Amino acid sequence: MTLLEVEGLSKSFGGVTAIADLCFKVPEQQVYSVIGPNGAGKTTLFNMLSGIYTPNEGSIKFQNRELIGRLPHQVASLGVSRTFQNLQMFFNMSVLDNVKVGCHLRTRSRIWSAALRLPGIFREERQAEAWSREALEFCRLEEFIGQEASALPYGVLKRLEIARALAAKPSLLLMDEPAAGLNDTETVEMRQLIRRICASGVTVLLVEHNMGLVMDVSDRILVIDYGSRLAEGTPTEIQRNPKVIQAYLGGEVQYAV
Ligand SMILES: Nc1ncnc2c1ncn2[C@@H]1O[C@H](COP(=O)(O)OP(=O)(O)OP(=O)(O)O)[C@@H](O)[C@H]1O
Ligand SMILES: [Mg+2]
Repeated sequence: MTLLEVEGLSKSFGGVTAIADLCFKVPEQQVYSVIGPNGAGKTTLFNMLSGIYTPNEGSIKFQNRELIGRLPHQVASLGVSRTFQNLQMFFNMSVLDNVKVGCHLRTRSRIWSAALRLPGIFREERQAEAWSREALEFCRLEEFIGQEASALPYGVLKRLEIARALAAKPSLLLMDEPAAGLNDTETVEMRQLIRRICASGVTVLLVEHNMGLVMDVSDRILVIDYGSRLAEGTPTEIQRNPKVIQAYLGGEVQYAV
């Protein structure tokens, strides 16, 4: 079944067309990757999917519901979470509190019930704590739970962002370059984490420049160039596609099938 369907999506900034008439479908419980050169429009696409940018044209259907016109927290509450290309972290807060922020995107209590300390608030707080601990454990971060984020190495912070996104219990996780800046060991761990996320029933939409990781972990791949679709298919099909080889892989097949 299709979880996400993007049709005729376009976005420009002044005279720059970042995404042009883009169409694709993400099947449920797969790892679906979007690749393309720097400036191809990948992050712009994620910003539209998560409600940060409003497209100029097109539609984004998630579980058959239109996402365009919804605010980021409304998109998150429908079950779409994301991580960022550049870490978005509260560095002076603990690991646990950083992850709890992800849960609060999904909770419904209004400011008055918080101010009046109505019982629902305590229930939600307990739930946020439980979901955060679960997400931290899933990302193998339990040992860091009480530490301040500023004390942690970059590789751990990349996983912490993922834990925060998972704590909101998404059906779709958008990951913008999770392996950027990681060393080889951390990249292997990241690959395993992406696989486990998918195996747990969460569909993954992945943007990544590490082609070894993309080819290894993806069920399907969409290649974009100048905001337009260049190719779409399985990793094997993508690696054999002459247009992709020419435009993106630099004229030679880099990863033997
Ligand atoms: N807020 C913005 N204002 C103006 N131009 C923007 C904005 N965001 C993106 N762009 C432009 O849109 C194009 C696509 O940028 P985007 O960041 O989506 O690329 P990307 O594929 O994520 O690249 P990278 O692989 O380097 O992260 C670029 O030309 C960029 O300069
Ligand atoms: Mg980007």
